[in-house]
Amino acid sequence: MNQDQLKREVAQAALRQIPEGQIIGVGTGSTVNFFIDALADIRHRVRATVSSSERSTERLRAHGFEVLDLNAVTSVPVYVDGADEIDPAGAMIKGGGGALTREKILAEVAERFICIVDASKLVPRLGRFPLPVEVVPMARELVRRRLVALGGAPRLREGFVTDNGNQILDVHGLDIDDPRALETRINQIPGVVTVGLFAHRGADRALVGTPDGVDERSFG
Ligand code: A5P
Repeated sequence: MNQDQLKREVAQAALRQIPEGQIIGVGTGSTVNFFIDALADIRHRVRATVSSSERSTERLRAHGFEVLDLNAVTSVPVYVDGADEIDPAGAMIKGGGGALTREKILAEVAERFICIVDASKLVPRLGRFPLPVEVVPMARELVRRRLVALGGAPRLREGFVTDNGNQILDVHGLDIDDPRALETRINQIPGVVTVGLFAHRGADRALVGTPDGVDERSFG
C-alpha cells in the first residue's frame, strides 16, 4: 500500500467517529482532503462544518457542505485533522500545510480531536519534522533570534503567506524533550501568533493507517 492509500483508508475509518446531525470541525492537508471527499458520502448526516483553512472551506463547499463562521458556533463535538508528527502521548507537530493557527483554534473549541495519520507520522519523540511557527511579519527577525537562542535553526517559508496574512518560520534541529514546556516558551515570544506544537491540547484519539489496517489509539 502506498502512502495515499493509507491516507484514504484512515480517512474512511474516521467516518465512524462522526456523530449524527452535528457540526463537524475539519482540518487541513492531504489526509483531510481524503476525509472531506469521504464525508461527502454521508453529507445528509452532517448538519454543518467549520473549517481550518480557505483550502478546506473551498473543498467542503464544492461538496455542498455548509461552512459556518466559528463565531456563530458554540459547540464542535468532533474535530478531524491530520498531523506532521504524533508522539505516544498524542502531542503533535502541525502546520506543514501552514494552517496551524486556525487548526489550534478549532482544536481548542472541539470536544474531541481525532487525528488521522498514516503510520509514517508516528514518532517516539517530536522534532524531526521542522516545527512551524506563524509570526507577525514585523516580528520575524526578533522571533528568529529567540528561536536560535532556544537551539533551533529557523528558516522562512519562502513565498508563503498564511490565511491570516502572516509568515511562517520552519524551525529545524530543535530537541523537543518536553513539548508542553516548549509550546509555552515559544508562545511567550512577542510576535508569535501560533507555534505548531499541539501538546497542551493534543489529540484525544488517533487513527493510524498501516498496511495491516487502521490502528486506533486513545490518549488520556
Ligand atoms: C496543515 O497545516 C497541517 O497541520 C496538516 O494537518 C499536516 O501538515 C498534515 O498534512 P498531511 O495530511 O498533508 O500530511
